[in-house]
Amino acid sequence: MRSWIGRFLAVLAAVPCAVVHAKPEQIRGVTSPIFHYYLQAYPQNSTIPVMGPEAKSEYYNIGSGTIQSTNSSAYLTVGADNTSYKTLTLSSSAGTAAPGWALEGDTIITGTSSKWGRQLNFLVCKVGTGDYWQVYLQTGSDVPSGKTCSNYQSLHLPCLC
Ligand SMILES: *[C@@H]1O[C@H](CO)[C@@H](O)[C@H](O)[C@H]1NC(C)=O
Ligand SMILES: *[C@@H]1O[C@H](CO)[C@@H](O)[C@H](O)[C@H]1NC(C)=O
Ligand SMILES: *[C@@H]1O[C@H](CO)[C@@H](O)[C@H](O)[C@H]1NC(C)=O
Repeated sequence: MRSWIGRFLAVLAAVPCAVVHAKPEQIRGVTSPIFHYYLQAYPQNSTIPVMGPEAKSEYYNIGSGTIQSTNSSAYLTVGADNTSYKTLTLSSSAGTAAPGWALEGDTIITGTSSKWGRQLNFLVCKVGTGDYWQVYLQTGSDVPSGKTCSNYQSLHLPCLC
């Protein structure tokens, strides 16, 4: 007979992706080249959100349509680029386009009623010389030329999967 902990772990394993709701939340990538890289401010320019090492992960309050870093108090805001990818900025104000962000299970999305509709794709492009990837909201298929990018990434809360 299995111990209670064995039964507990078996129950957890049966859940495809049990979200650990440890508020505030970390936000991370799940596929290469940003597999288990975490959302944070770029060390060279704190207005630029990047995926980087877990050790420098920031923590976010996600709610009321906003994503706010508890480390810097900056809000993740979406730019008005004419390309399908929209520049994300860490701003002191949530901006007029808020509320926009939402959660769908463990996945970061822009909500159906937001200016962008329901989007859950992100573009990441390598920035600087370190292993940092700048994050953009992707509403289509455009990719900037002359950069090393990975399209159709998704961002998630850490989960037991
Ligand atoms: C930080 O990045 C923003 C957006 O690209 C840019 O406008 C700003 O000049 C940069 N700041 C510094 C100090 O490089
Ligand atoms: C952000 O804040 C959390 C919680 O206070 C802390 O554990 C983490 O180390 C901070 N991240 C950075 C990059 O300072
Ligand atoms: C997008 O295009 C419009 C119309 O051409 C222009 O007014 C606006 O400045 C452009 N926005 C950006 C961020 O380039």
